Amino acid sequence: MAHNVGRVVIVGAGTMGTTLAKLVSSKQWPVRVIDTNQAVLERCRTQLIAALGPQVIADNHLDFQSQWMADESITIVIESVTENLEIKQLVIAQAEAHCSKDTLIVTNTSGLSIDEIGQKMQYPERLAGAHFFNPADLIPTVEVVSGAATLESTVERICQFLTQLGKRPAVIQKAVPGFVANRIQHAIMRECLSLLEKGVVDIEALDDIVQFSIGVRLALNGPLLQRDLNGLDTHLNIARYLYSDLEDTHSPSALLESYVEKGWLGAKAGKGFYAWSDEKVAQRSANEGKRLSQIIDIALDNEKETGL
Ligand SMILES: NC(=O)c1ccc[n+]([C@@H]2O[C@H](COP(=O)([O-])OP(=O)(O)OC[C@H]3O[C@@H](n4cnc5c(N)ncnc54)[C@H](O)[C@@H]3O)[C@@H](O)[C@H]2O)c1
Repeated sequence: MAHNVGRVVIVGAGTMGTTLAKLVSSKQWPVRVIDTNQAVLERCRTQLIAALGPQVIADNHLDFQSQWMADESITIVIESVTENLEIKQLVIAQAEAHCSKDTLIVTNTSGLSIDEIGQKMQYPERLAGAHFFNPADLIPTVEVVSGAATLESTVERICQFLTQLGKRPAVIQKAVPGFVANRIQHAIMRECLSLLEKGVVDIEALDDIVQFSIGVRLALNGPLLQRDLNGLDTHLNIARYLYSDLEDTHSPSALLESYVEKGWLGAKAGKGFYAWSDEKVAQRSANEGKRLSQIIDIALDNEKETGL
């Protein structure tokens, strides 16, 4: 089916770029994936052919390039390269040099400043952050973040595009480092690592407690809605005696630093908090997409049924 969206360019064919390309291509929109790393580009291509079928490429809906080419039909560029300010600025300069001045430029940064990313742009009013979550083709929410120069109409166009993709755009009122989700994720992890360091709980027990208490509930209710259900007076009473004891360090945990120093980077390195074999990694990822989709469906049904 033809669409009026024009060509969407996704820069970066890594973890996020691949699922972003899968998402946009699944809507039959023409997609170009650009990555300077030929091996990564080839892996992305293989994964997308496996997921969408070879016809997508044969129909010229999807192509893969290691460098930019000028193209007036590009309406949206989604930058999803390495989380590094200089690299992002370079990619955005390339986007401006090869697209029309009306092309929307979107950065998938996890929390770098939109103003700094757009600092050297000729037309920074068409830049905004659209922070997708991994895997981008499945997770519904996308945080939309403006810079000081971003036009209201840019935000509107990005939200419209995201809605057409079946996403739930969540506009952030004020750009703060880490936006919303990463601030919350890091607040949780700061306390988790602190509890491990203090020997309060072991790794397995901590994961079990979080996943099967607050974790399962969060799939149905956001934290504020959940507090309403539990009672704000009770929450306040606990907050009064607990906060002085919570972790409030301003530097990353020594435990985390030591893991990374030892090369314990998680599943990809065979060791993180847990030991990982190739079979274990394959087992974990085999049905992950299916399970995530089931949880998302339950959450959406719950929202529909309860009206909240
Ligand atoms: N991984 C996640 O869970 C996640 C979630 C949300 C957002 N993000 C953000 O998405 C972005 C990409 O993350 P990722 O996890 O996919 O990283 P990644 O390392 O898997 O992929 C980044 C890709 O960018 C490519 N690249 C680097 N410089 C380039 C250039 N000049 N031109 C073209 N390609 C270039 C690299 O070759 C690499 O393949 C980052 O900003 C990250 O913070 C990541």
